[in-house]
Amino acid sequence: MRKPIIAGNWKMYKTRDEALFFILKVSDGVPSIKDVDSVICAQAPLMRCLIKRQGDNLRIGAQNMHYADEGAFTGEVSGPMLKSYNVDYVIIGHSERRAMFYETDEIVNKKIVAALRNDLIPIVCIGEHLEERENGSTNAILHSQIMKGFVNIDAKDMKKIIIAYEPIWAIGTGKTATADLADETCGYIRSVIGEVYGADVAEAIRIQYGGSVNPGNIDELLSKANIDGVLIGGASLNPDHFIYMTNAAMKRLK
Ligand code: PGA
Repeated sequence: MRKPIIAGNWKMYKTRDEALFFILKVSDGVPSIKDVDSVICAQAPLMRCLIKRQGDNLRIGAQNMHYADEGAFTGEVSGPMLKSYNVDYVIIGHSERRAMFYETDEIVNKKIVAALRNDLIPIVCIGEHLEERENGSTNAILHSQIMKGFVNIDAKDMKKIIIAYEPIWAIGTGKTATADLADETCGYIRSVIGEVYGADVAEAIRIQYGGSVNPGNIDELLSKANIDGVLIGGASLNPDHFIYMTNAAMKRLK
């Protein structure tokens, strides 16, 4: 049984005071880490505030990192910096970074390697545009993102990685993929991982769905066999919604 992982992606939202309000409310409200991985991925200036108060069951992640461990890269954050704050996860290759900050599959690959080298768990985002979904090329796009993004990652490391399937047309739009479509596509991703890395990796790797997940649709999404968790943007900013959604994952265990 794969442990569910419910992760919030705060994007460029929340000041320190807003983060403090959230963490004081949420750290005791998420389920036991024995049952569910509950993660908040926040911006670097908020790390100290969140890590100090994360409690026993919540984990903190970053939303990006550089692939070099140090260097003259003004404005960038490194893996060793994140690790030194006890950050556990890092989102890599989010579609907003691919679209607005020119991240290619090759850069995504270098960042995954750097995350693993620094003992950070990468949450790697892949997904298709609306026109690709409509013209039937979704699987080809996902296949290519997987083959290029995971070059030179061995089977042992693949088992640690979280893949987030995020159809770009469903992010921040209120348009969720239907649970059946999300399940079918996560199943396709799992089958590609199986072909490349073997059945035991396909069985072990956790695949999330992301794109307009909220308290109203999470139960159905998590009822699907191939969806091991969700990556939540907008709805993760509300403490009560986040508590509800992490606890929704408990139903998957029953
Ligand atoms: P959304 O964002 O839940 O606001 O659609 C998801 C994401 O970008 O990870």
